[in-house]
Amino acid sequence: MGSPGLVAQRRQQVARAWALERGAVLVASGLPVPIAGTDQYHDFHAHPEFRYLAGIAEPASVLTFDPGEGWRLFVRFPDPDDRIWTGDGPEPASLEVHAGLAPQPIEELAPWLEARRTEPLALLGNDDLRHRPAGYHLPSIDRFEAVFDDGLKARLSWQVAEARRSKDPAELDAMRRAATASVAGHLHALRSIRPGLTERLVQVEIEAEFFRHGGDRTAYGSIIGSGPNGAILHFTPTRRTLAAGELVLIDAGAEVDGYASDVTRTFPAGPRFEGIQRDIYRLVYDVQRAAIAAARPGVEYRDLHLAACHRIAAGLVDLGILRGDPTGLVERDAHALFFPHGLGHLLGLATHDAGGCLQGRTPSDRFGLKWLRADLPLQPGYVVTIEPGIYFISAILRDPQRRAAYRDAVDWERVDALHGFGGIRIEDDVLITETGSEVLTAALPAEIEAIESLRSEAFAR
Ligand code: GLY
Ligand code: MN
Repeated sequence: MGSPGLVAQRRQQVARAWALERGAVLVASGLPVPIAGTDQYHDFHAHPEFRYLAGIAEPASVLTFDPGEGWRLFVRFPDPDDRIWTGDGPEPASLEVHAGLAPQPIEELAPWLEARRTEPLALLGNDDLRHRPAGYHLPSIDRFEAVFDDGLKARLSWQVAEARRSKDPAELDAMRRAATASVAGHLHALRSIRPGLTERLVQVEIEAEFFRHGGDRTAYGSIIGSGPNGAILHFTPTRRTLAAGELVLIDAGAEVDGYASDVTRTFPAGPRFEGIQRDIYRLVYDVQRAAIAAARPGVEYRDLHLAACHRIAAGLVDLGILRGDPTGLVERDAHALFFPHGLGHLLGLATHDAGGCLQGRTPSDRFGLKWLRADLPLQPGYVVTIEPGIYFISAILRDPQRRAAYRDAVDWERVDALHGFGGIRIEDDVLITETGSEVLTAALPAEIEAIESLRSEAFAR
């Protein structure tokens, strides 16, 4: 939930940026999404634009702005049947405390809209209001179709994304709490996971610890890959059993008050890193620490990414996996055979938060840049992830065209011998401050010695 003064400030700042002279804006929270073929619903997520500007997360609710009258908040209050099945819901007074606006019943939205029938209307938030108007107690939306202005919507939505980049104190408080819950979960995993557990049970352990430490839910589907599965960037945990001698990659984060944390650690299923695991881990760790040390206001995130690519290329040359000059290898995207994703992304009300690329900048279609989700100069208050990785991904490394294109740049025999290695990613959440950065997840160690010390606790019992 929001802090009313700060939420009102967000609305003021956004309205100033919009500089609307006429027309009106609706920001819809969204409706619960039914699971087809059942009488159940998916877990409800309020649209981040609504949550940011309204400070609450109620379904079927709409925040409106009209330059003549300012902001209004229309909320769907529970009907008598809802009260039987799902309870009374939050009191209007409590919604007002969090939103800094007195909520009106959603039934009053229809006449509000009717009064603006000829105005240009921008629909932000969830556009299900256009497709499922009855859920918002709107009898029909057809007569407004002519005045929905998608160009205006795109401009206004972009300005909300810009406002959302720099986090205010209430947002940072939620993000710190999310980071604390995530750190607790990862520490618990490091201290307790042993070979013989399944990926699914690892998920149960870490997520339970998130919830015990204040997490409301997971910020995204937990990614847990053991052994070769660590090479699948967004791997969904399975019944596969962890084996001694292999690595486990856990990319999982708690969400608090709608704000995400996003944390990855990779560690041995047994007590210690072995052989090449240790070398590659050290390389990823050094790359991550260098990127965090360089993160400060004014620095272009893309430059951090490219510097990380260069370090990865140089490290892989030292390990005899790549061949050639690191600068030339990065120019050819050879590093991306092993590090195909971007260095990270903005974090906030979404895990891959809004506004990650400046307007007008779109990710390049180059293999080494197309998954770069942040391309902008860092500013105080931004929270970004820094998450380099090195993977042995079959879909890339067994592709005959890539093998031909990089015949000279890769020691393919060595790479083939590492088939099944999986991958190593290390990810922390970093707040950009006035002078540098603060790692919100710093309480979770990443250096080899600290990881092995935590792992030894799992085997001491
Ligand atoms: N945590 C998943 C991702 O950043 O894509
Ligand atoms: Mn991430």
